[in-house]
Amino acid sequence: MKGLILSGGHGTRLRPLTHTGPKQLIPIANKPVLFYAIEDLKEAGITDIGIILGTNMPEKVKEAVGDGSKFDVEITYIMQGEPKGLAHAVSVAHDFVGNEPFVMYLGDNILKSGINEFVEGFEESEFDARILLQKVDEPERFGVAELNEKGEVTHLVEKPNEPKSDLALVGIYLFKSTIFEAIKKIKPSWRGELEITDAIQEFLNSQKKVDSHIVKGWWKDTGKPEDVLEANHLILDWLEASNKGKIEDGVKIHGRVNIDTGSVIRKGSVIRGPVIIGKNCEIDAYIGPYTAIGDNTRIIGGEIESSIVVGDSLIECEKKIVDSLIGNHSCIVSIGNRLPKGYRFVIGENSFVNL
Ligand code: DAU
Repeated sequence: MKGLILSGGHGTRLRPLTHTGPKQLIPIANKPVLFYAIEDLKEAGITDIGIILGTNMPEKVKEAVGDGSKFDVEITYIMQGEPKGLAHAVSVAHDFVGNEPFVMYLGDNILKSGINEFVEGFEESEFDARILLQKVDEPERFGVAELNEKGEVTHLVEKPNEPKSDLALVGIYLFKSTIFEAIKKIKPSWRGELEITDAIQEFLNSQKKVDSHIVKGWWKDTGKPEDVLEANHLILDWLEASNKGKIEDGVKIHGRVNIDTGSVIRKGSVIRGPVIIGKNCEIDAYIGPYTAIGDNTRIIGGEIESSIVVGDSLIECEKKIVDSLIGNHSCIVSIGNRLPKGYRFVIGENSFVNL
């Protein structure tokens, strides 16, 4: 079986972060979202993996993932160009996939329990597709599946205005190579994209068999800033404590805190886990639960919690930062003002904020 990860698209809902890189490289607990997909495929025994690239700085994906050897997999890059839809992305991968069954994994999705149990038995099964479903609060944001009393999939619609069920399509799909024929039959949707949801519906129309599994553990589509922060939260719940850095005397550490090489936690700091701190950081502050701090970041004074600092940044202020997503090379400083406590940020790379 092969793997196909979709890492194209514009990432408009995550601007400004995606002005300087593809959304699939946004770190969740200090690791790009895309890496979780690669690891899930590897874990399921799939090592021949194609990555679909779009127009938004595809070279950054190549730079981050390389030839796959650091994951012990083999990566083939496939250029899609403009995002003309998920089914279009699959069709440009036809030569890579050939006649083999494959797992299609949306590069911005993240799944707690991995994909092993879903992949098992698919290759030799009678099914042309296996889809994963989960109940959600806002089904109109997703592809939605209707099932009959026997639990069989009867109908699929992409982002319906009036969803007939609350079962969303998770962004992980298993296909036989018959999907390429189905894709040839579909037309672009109202949003001008070739939808994979329509291609699976085409299977149903032609009496092909589509299997479905309900995902029980959590799943996140990290399409929006609040989803990214929530995914960070969920992953940090599994964080293991470790210290490769230096903790000065008089630092208070509570709960699970993971500190990487070259980082220093200065005297008087309080760190309340789960918190992950990357390489070469300097912390002289209060760091609260569910915070991920990327490499080469200095946090001097003030408080930060439930936030992501992508890296290479300076935060030097006596304020409290909460629920924030702070891009690379940002600088947040405070020069002697008294302002209300608690600020919420979604700011891009190279930003400068003077509070
Ligand atoms: O996350 C699950 C949802 O993903 C499903 O419920 C929907 O049925 C499915 O259409 C998809 O919806 P989104 O609107 O979230 O898809 P998005 O445009 O965000 O694209 C998903 C991933 O695929 C993302 O990593 C970007 C990549 N992509 C997207 C398009 C449109 C490509 O590589 N090429 C493309 O042409």
